Amino acid sequence: MTTPETQSIQAASANTAAAARDTANAPISLRHVVKVFGRARALDDVSFDVATGETFGLIGPNGSGKTTLIRTLLGLTKPTSGQVRVLGRAMPDHRVARSIGYMTQSSALYNELSVRENVRFFASLYGLSGQRLHNRIDETLALVDLTERAHSPVQTLSGGMRQRVSLACALTHQPRLVFLDEPTVGIDPELRLFFWDYFAKLNAQGVTIIVSTHHLDEAKRCHRLALLRFGKLLAVDTPDDLLRRSGAEDFDHAFLYYASRDEQELQALQAQQPAQSA
Ligand SMILES: Nc1ncnc2c1ncn2[C@@H]1O[C@H](COP(=O)(O)OP(=O)(O)OP(=O)(O)O)[C@@H](O)[C@H]1O
Ligand SMILES: [Mg+2]
Repeated sequence: MTTPETQSIQAASANTAAAARDTANAPISLRHVVKVFGRARALDDVSFDVATGETFGLIGPNGSGKTTLIRTLLGLTKPTSGQVRVLGRAMPDHRVARSIGYMTQSSALYNELSVRENVRFFASLYGLSGQRLHNRIDETLALVDLTERAHSPVQTLSGGMRQRVSLACALTHQPRLVFLDEPTVGIDPELRLFFWDYFAKLNAQGVTIIVSTHHLDEAKRCHRLALLRFGKLLAVDTPDDLLRRSGAEDFDHAFLYYASRDEQELQALQAQQPAQSA
């Protein structure tokens, strides 16, 4: 059955496809981004664009550079080299801050403050005030089903409830661009479905989402995925095309395919080098 909501989601998907062709206005654009920490290359020549209304997934093992990539896009980490543009501005640029929401990988909440006080604190930082601030806090708490716990100190909540507070803190100011670093770690399947259904609604409103995850079932719900390993982009494509091109039936095996292809390319390059320098 086609409901107004599914129609608007379909329309948003069509818009996303159109926007994907319009890279000049992409809300995110990375070109040859490198980030070096000491001897480690956390990001190694990463380039891609993300389109308006798209959910773009970052997939990769521990230490592959997902959080570093998100922090670089936010302007919190300065790249060693390369260009980062977010919402049309070269980063870092504080003018984009109010249009961005960020849910960090580890909780950034104040445990002694109540749920409502935490949400209010972050919404105020993002520039909300007056009646709009109060209305948006009410709406967001209802959305994450925490109205009844609004006055509970965060330290008295379960882990899943804290994740919901963190999500509320990232969304109250209605950002156009949202970064979610492993938002569903440690939460139950029902709540994960709730989060992902909500992300689809945000996309339908034109909100762009960058999300990192280790849940490969969630990967399927992204419009496109970036596979990262040792800071290198192994592949960027739709979930269907990543599977089709690899011939794999699931993302675990697809990831192994792209990783081994990368190894082979590296070995071929290394084998050529002595011949070239001879
Ligand atoms: N502030 C830092 N100083 C030094 N090294 C860092 C710093 N931040 C990240 N790194 C290194 O950069 C690499 C990428 O780390 P990052 O946190 O981006 O990985 P990740 O993909 O988010 O991993 P996880 O899945 O565990 O969250 C790792 O080798 C890490 O040790
Ligand atoms: Mg991380």
